[in-house]
Amino acid sequence: MHVSFPPGPRLPRLVQAARVTAGPYSWMQRRRERYGDVFSSYFPFFGRVVYVADPALIKQVFTGAPEVFHAGEANATVLGDALGEHSLLTLDEGRHLSQRKLLLPPFHGESVRRYVEVMAEATAREVERWPVGRAFALRPRMQAITLEVILRAVFGVRDDERMDRFRERIPRLGELSSVLDWLPFMQRDLGGITPAARFRRAVAAVDELIYAEIADRRALGVAASERDDVLTLLLSARHEDGSPMSDVELRDELMTLLTAGHETTATGLSWAFERLLRTPRVLARVVDSLEDDEYLDAVVKETLRVRPVIVDVARKLTRDVELAGWRLPAGTLVLPAIAAVHVRPDLYPSPREFKPERFLDGAAESYAWIPFGGGVRRCIGASFAQVEMRVVLREVLRRVRLRAPSARPERAQVRHVTVVPARGCRVAVTERVAEPVATDPVAATV
Ligand code: HEM
Repeated sequence: MHVSFPPGPRLPRLVQAARVTAGPYSWMQRRRERYGDVFSSYFPFFGRVVYVADPALIKQVFTGAPEVFHAGEANATVLGDALGEHSLLTLDEGRHLSQRKLLLPPFHGESVRRYVEVMAEATAREVERWPVGRAFALRPRMQAITLEVILRAVFGVRDDERMDRFRERIPRLGELSSVLDWLPFMQRDLGGITPAARFRRAVAAVDELIYAEIADRRALGVAASERDDVLTLLLSARHEDGSPMSDVELRDELMTLLTAGHETTATGLSWAFERLLRTPRVLARVVDSLEDDEYLDAVVKETLRVRPVIVDVARKLTRDVELAGWRLPAGTLVLPAIAAVHVRPDLYPSPREFKPERFLDGAAESYAWIPFGGGVRRCIGASFAQVEMRVVLREVLRRVRLRAPSARPERAQVRHVTVVPARGCRVAVTERVAEPVATDPVAATV
């Protein structure tokens, strides 16, 4: 069979890129309605890419041989080299698998429950600062919570001064990398004031703090092993040959966890509030049953279905592959179209309705609910993120009543590699709940 590509829009590359950026969900959903479950697109820098929006085909991609479907290589195109050569996100095949084995244990469902208290406390402190009666963007507030949680639960930072320095330096990374994402020709480090040079300096400033934390923890020796943050667990993890992780490996994985876990979870939370404040029936049910983990969990799942934080994930083919009758050449990027499969009416009746109850009646079909990707590359932070979203939603709604200044839904917009509410999820606190109902955050989520 000759090399062939599925149909797709014929618009110039830049026009297609501009349309995706301005309306990522609707762009992908309309392409599927028009061209079917497999369609092509052209983008600057990536060339021709192929989307798949059918669960059976998505399964084929996610369970395909890791030496043929390279996720690391595809991720590296977007994420650049700040993550380092050991990053779980940008490695493939054997090296990816061996890092993944080291990183998985601290992220198992059972293990992440130990972080519930850290999550609840970070939320309580943040909500205290919110003004009453004045509208503000919620997303930066959610970012402050998720950053604090990563620094405490994953990095294990306890020193207040170091915490403040991390808080100052990390946001610079996000600001600069989003410029570099969309202007890859700017990535050349010409020194001085170019965005690439400023980005490298911002990375170096965060690295300095990460290495200081690793050194302090190694110096603590046995006493350090009494802690239960992710870094502590990684310090005692061993490769198959019995060797410990090096400082550079630890740095690369901490930077990866920060990059993959901070903005994503904050954005998921922003969308959860954006949807809840525009669906009064669901909001009322959540507020009435804050102790009901099952319902909160369904709210989280439904949010990630209708407003997936990441609209697609990529695999780069290392050789020609036959998919749905097309023979795709080596080098093609194949992308499970998360945002399109999540609104298929055959899988989700009234697909655009925000209805958490659909997840109470049973789990979604495999490969039909894929906000965390799949296969050997499935997000290792999926449990962590879902527990965190549940805890933050509960702790916020226990303390304040919120309203959206406008009843109109916020538009979706691409920012960095995530899709965010265009106005940052504007909210206003209408009142503080005088005596937050006392709950034991740990008991409620276990
Ligand atoms: C709502 C929040 C989150 C969303 C929507 C999300 C989504 C994703 C997606 C779509 C992938 C790619 C999967 C694939 O290629 O099949 C991924 C990978 C990854 N995520 Fe998450 N993520 C979230 C939170 C987190 C958190 C909290 C952490 C850790 C603290 C994390 C760590 C990672 C890592 C390390 C990978 C790379 C896995 C690998 O390549 O083996 N993520 N995530």
